[in-house]
Amino acid sequence: MTPRQTPTPVDLSGQVAVVTGAAQGLGLAMATELATGGGRVVLADVQLAKAEAAAADLVAQGLEARSVELDVTDSKAVERVFSAVVEQEGRFDILVNNAGVGQRLDRISDLPDAEWDRVLAATLTGSFYCGRAAAAIMEQQESGAIVNISSINGQNPAALAGAYNVAKAGVITLTRTMALELAAYGVRVNAVCPGPVYTEFNRSVMRQRSESLGISEEEMVERVRGAVPLGRWGEPEDIARMVAWLASPAAGWMTGEVVRVSGGLEGVSAAPPKRTRTSEAT
Ligand SMILES: NC(=O)c1ccc[n+]([C@@H]2O[C@H](COP(=O)([O-])OP(=O)(O)OC[C@H]3O[C@@H](n4cnc5c(N)ncnc54)[C@H](O)[C@@H]3O)[C@@H](O)[C@H]2O)c1
Repeated sequence: MTPRQTPTPVDLSGQVAVVTGAAQGLGLAMATELATGGGRVVLADVQLAKAEAAAADLVAQGLEARSVELDVTDSKAVERVFSAVVEQEGRFDILVNNAGVGQRLDRISDLPDAEWDRVLAATLTGSFYCGRAAAAIMEQQESGAIVNISSINGQNPAALAGAYNVAKAGVITLTRTMALELAAYGVRVNAVCPGPVYTEFNRSVMRQRSESLGISEEEMVERVRGAVPLGRWGEPEDIARMVAWLASPAAGWMTGEVVRVSGGLEGVSAAPPKRTRTSEAT
């Protein structure tokens, strides 16, 4: 098959990239964008069958891609997978820390330990494990670029998503710390804060928010659209293009930056009304 005909904004020829959480949603769009730019892309995800199918689809489009099973919350697995990438590809140029999970919407005062731990593990600690393993390799190479996916919630917290907000704020501080520590090696670390994109993740958030407000999901989706200054929800490609650009030599003098890609939306900070406490609250 002939390669995709979409314009390639960046030149990543021959660069080896790993995108975590790349089986679907934003991660898949990022993997596609990096591969379209000439990158050799590894789609790493806990959902192996889905990642395999996505990589096969990219290969069928004439792009270079393969998949690997990876749970980013397992630090040993992260080290094993990243070492294998270097053994097989000879280098490791780009890491996109995209894997993350949304939380079950809840007030901090009701949030169970297990939900806090689950969200922090996948959304923040996983980025630390992957960033640490990639940093060790990139330091030796004296080159590389890491792009961490935060969220507008990391800059401006939304009510009822406390664990997620904290995890994404942590991703921003992880980014800025690593940017300083890796600068001497020529390794750049930047973050992207996406606004709302209607992926599986956000569909679940919209469902829960509409239930909590007693409105339909369609009304909720429209409310969010109306709050975006540019007047539309984001597309996965809106986010993916910025990720590919930050990873590319075009952004060669940028590190420690936190770039919002959100149609101008800064955050959603509405406070929920009082509710009646139940005796089961944890
Ligand atoms: N969609 C949005 O509106 C939005 C906005 C801001 C930030 N984000 C962030 O963008 C990233 C991608 O979001 P999405 O909307 O594409 O979500 P999604 O749920 O559609 O996809 C997430 C992917 O990550 C994978 N994943 C989850 N836990 C993992 C783990 N432990 N190890 C490896 N892979 C794992 C999932 O299998 C899935 O393929 C997330 O970090 C999310 O927080 C999304």
